[in-house]
Amino acid sequence: MSISEATKKQGGLAGVVAGESAICTCGTGNGLNYYGYAIEDLAEHCEFEEVAYLLQYAKLPNANELKEYKSKIIASRPLSVELKAMLKLIPKGVHPMNVCQSAVALLGTLEAEKDDFSDQDEKIIRLLGVLPSVICFWHNYINGGKEIDFESKEDTIAGYFLEKLHQKTPPAEFVKAMHCSLILYAEHEFNASTFTARICASTKSDIFSAVAGAIGALRGPLHGGANEAAFGLISSFDNVEDAIAGVNDKLANKELLMGFGHRVYGLGGDPRNAVIKKWSKALSNDHKLFAISEAIENVMKEKRPSLPPNADFYSASAYHFMGIPTEYFTPIFIMSRVSGWCAHIKEQRANNKLIRPSSNYIGPEPMKFIQIHQR
Ligand code: SDX
Repeated sequence: MSISEATKKQGGLAGVVAGESAICTCGTGNGLNYYGYAIEDLAEHCEFEEVAYLLQYAKLPNANELKEYKSKIIASRPLSVELKAMLKLIPKGVHPMNVCQSAVALLGTLEAEKDDFSDQDEKIIRLLGVLPSVICFWHNYINGGKEIDFESKEDTIAGYFLEKLHQKTPPAEFVKAMHCSLILYAEHEFNASTFTARICASTKSDIFSAVAGAIGALRGPLHGGANEAAFGLISSFDNVEDAIAGVNDKLANKELLMGFGHRVYGLGGDPRNAVIKKWSKALSNDHKLFAISEAIENVMKEKRPSLPPNADFYSASAYHFMGIPTEYFTPIFIMSRVSGWCAHIKEQRANNKLIRPSSNYIGPEPMKFIQIHQR
């Protein structure tokens, strides 16, 4: 079957190569690599900031470069008076994804990027520093009226986020797990939100507009929103027996099991799953919940092996075990993927061509016009 037939059959640009990129390999059978470095090595040995640097500058930092990079991100944490004022206007009940999108859009007005994009690297660092502050400031304000400050002994995004969210020093194990999760989520080739960012960048729009658009794409439950939805699935069962029966019922009713399946990963599975599953098991303080997760995974392995668990399935339980409210699962994805989005925005800008595909017309033949009084 030709690609165009496959695309027609599957839709969603499935199987279509939509451009060139040097940043990431995924689904090619060579594993998941960022600028050639295997995700397993990065997740095992790096802080997230090392990987964010790799994505921003296409090389791993040395100790001095990392130190300077981290201090710039730390200096970018504080919220302006205007940003705090806007966040305080957003009521409880609004999804934090929309809070993040609004904050990024406001940054694009108050701290606009230069027209020639010569300050793009500073803006990327600002986004890395400010997003955890946006999430935690709003969370603490709407749940108790507390206006948190942005001082911290935590010198990484992982530690700073956990400390500011919970307003207490996070256990070292939680910080390590968060580093791992941020690294796993950082980049994934032409996924829907990244491609959204590239399309915006290809029109020569600014970085804040492109990231705001990407956040909109990530929010959907078929994409980044799946980690929140996966927790809804896992927590809907009381025990392993219920989970086994429930998953079989859902499959029989052709319902989607959130956290499973992937556009580019088939039987070989999502390489990120094994890494984050280990952390979920290590952090598990509710063995029933982990057992239910494994039961769901085993039913899917047996009944629908072509739908392996993706990065979202065990991220859900790992975040829960770290005491993170479910509605913040996908905003964590933003804190991480902003590094991947911005890597693609820089790459698109460096060799730009407006992204504008064609459609296969299936509409009516040419029509004779009829005046309104004759209709
Ligand atoms: C992410 O692209 C990326 O790289 C994304 C991401 C990243 O890092 O950026 O990896 C992050 O978004 C991971 C995916 C998170 N989404 C979910 O977990 C939501 C549940 N998964 C499905 O919605 C689905 O698997 C997709 C959207 C992820 C991929 O679907 P495709 O490639 O469009 O395939 P499809 O929907 O055409 O499914 C093919 C068949 C269908 O059945 P039939 O109509 O052929 O009978 O498989 C079925 C689907 O119904 N199917 C599922 C299923 N996923 C696909 N059935 C049950 N449960 C599922 N999860």
